[in-house]
Amino acid sequence: MNELPPVLVTRRLAPGVVERLTANLPATVHDSDLPMARADLLAAVRGRRALITTLDDRVDAELLDAAGPGLDIVANHAVGHHNIDLAACAERGIPVTNTPGVLTAATADMAWALLLAAARRLGEGERLLRSGGTWAWAPNFLLGLELTGTPLGVLGMGRIGQAVARRARGFDMPVRYHNRTPLPPEQADGAEWLPLEQLLSTSPVLVVTCPLSAATRHLLDARRLALLPPGAVVVSMTAGVVDEEALAAALESGALFAAAVDNFEHEPAVPSALLAQDRAVLAPHLGSATVRTRQAMGDLAVDNVLAVLAGKDPVTPVGR
Ligand code: DGY
Repeated sequence: MNELPPVLVTRRLAPGVVERLTANLPATVHDSDLPMARADLLAAVRGRRALITTLDDRVDAELLDAAGPGLDIVANHAVGHHNIDLAACAERGIPVTNTPGVLTAATADMAWALLLAAARRLGEGERLLRSGGTWAWAPNFLLGLELTGTPLGVLGMGRIGQAVARRARGFDMPVRYHNRTPLPPEQADGAEWLPLEQLLSTSPVLVVTCPLSAATRHLLDARRLALLPPGAVVVSMTAGVVDEEALAAALESGALFAAAVDNFEHEPAVPSALLAQDRAVLAPHLGSATVRTRQAMGDLAVDNVLAVLAGKDPVTPVGR
């Protein structure tokens, strides 16, 4: 029986990334922009030493068992890792890596693109023009919320939240944030820590960047969304933290001025209640989608695989 290449890559990667990998190690690549079907994935992992996975690949006990005892690393091509059962990997002694740092700037830029689009009603304006609707410049036409000087709340002041906060300086926005524990002052960089409910009740603009975990799933539910000041704008950069149905309801009732969402809980599905909201700017998970960043994410996933398969420590293990 022919041995399979030791590495399985579950998605087409940025140009040159797979070549860097295969110059060192043979690999099988699912050369598609769509995820592998579960049954194909379970069959394809058998006997591999390394997997390069994406957020769409559920890495759980079933998959690890299908891979077998030779699996040495799961390298997620994402900073997020909610697709991976870390405990199941730990039980089997399999290191899990992600791609932190390299996507911070691109994701913070996208948060701002969405914040500006939502606050200034860009989606509505664009749809009006493309549908051939009637319009004229008018003092009261498509008025938005002015961001300059408006307080910004950041829920989740990790790398991406801090980069979002730095960009707020150009808009003279005072920044408040909530994390489980306040940051040291040099990292907080002038931003004020507030308890969650106080952050919500004082944030006319809120950007959500905290990672999805059991503790943060639906952290922003209907009750907590109702704490935001009337007419607030919410930008969600992490799937599952904001309850999407509750967000749609808050837009529908007019409690929120606008919202923007980049990641969805059950991708590629987008709740119809959100699609129905004119004040929702919806993006198909584009946070890290720049040429430079996707290259860097691919390279980092490959670096992790090459290190571990050469008997070295992973470069960016999850949780360290
Ligand atoms: C991540 O890395 O977690 C992002 O969501 C991918 O864009």
